[in-house]
Amino acid sequence: MINTIVTPYAFANNIRWRHSIYQGEIYKLPASQVSTELVNAIQQLLLKTFAINELNFNNLVNIHNVLSEADFFAAMKLIRRELFEQPKYTELLSKYLLNLGFKQGEVAFEPLRLRAIRHNGHLTERAKAVYYAHRDTWYGHAQSVIVGWIPLHNQAIHQTFEIYPDWFNRPVSNNSEVFDYNQWRSGNNDKIIGWQKKDTGLTAVYPETTAEVPLGRRIKFSCTQAETLLFSGAHYHQTLKQTRNLSRFSVDYRLIHLADEQQQLGAPNVDNRSRGSALQDYIRL
Ligand SMILES: [Fe+2]
Repeated sequence: MINTIVTPYAFANNIRWRHSIYQGEIYKLPASQVSTELVNAIQQLLLKTFAINELNFNNLVNIHNVLSEADFFAAMKLIRRELFEQPKYTELLSKYLLNLGFKQGEVAFEPLRLRAIRHNGHLTERAKAVYYAHRDTWYGHAQSVIVGWIPLHNQAIHQTFEIYPDWFNRPVSNNSEVFDYNQWRSGNNDKIIGWQKKDTGLTAVYPETTAEVPLGRRIKFSCTQAETLLFSGAHYHQTLKQTRNLSRFSVDYRLIHLADEQQQLGAPNVDNRSRGSALQDYIRL
């Protein structure tokens, strides 16, 4: 189900490894010195911006008890902007990708996106799209897109997300045709940063499943801080609702191997009808 890799470094450049991801394999990589450095830097940024006495790495998951939703929302906006604009974080991500074995000029990646799933966040109407089961490819990403997901703290199985492998090769009824990347990003740099106006979630149209799907097998996982889950962006997956008085924090990035993309390698496209290409905003390693 999930391949646990003990020593992934220098094997990331192996074409068979990438191709197995295009066929639906999922890998969990251990924390490394570089991934830990990256996580530490982001934790520092979170704590600095939240600026709450006695808040530390260990009790960050209780943030919803000490910060109102509105204040949390405002702080997250600042943090996401900083993550996008400060070269330090992109440099750390580059170092991490090089450490995985990718070569300069060979891949392109999206700057890190911070995800914070607040306790009971699913009850907020404007956040509803966060909890839609989806494929990342429905958002204008190529079929070859590989997603890297890094937890900022240890997470139990109920804190992460689920992948539904039975749907990797089977179409899901969806309305991905509503999503046009060019239209979505036009005139609004905030969106590329992973931010949008407070109420965008109430009005924007995001791809979603349009008929009931019997989810079948569920790949669930727990993880420790600074590990990486690597999987195809074509996998059908869903963020879990947090109802146990814990918020959760992670960062993720999307990655494309440029030669693979040029040769139209990648996961099968069974139902993605989104338009435009997010690749224009990726950064060359
Ligand atoms: Fe996703």
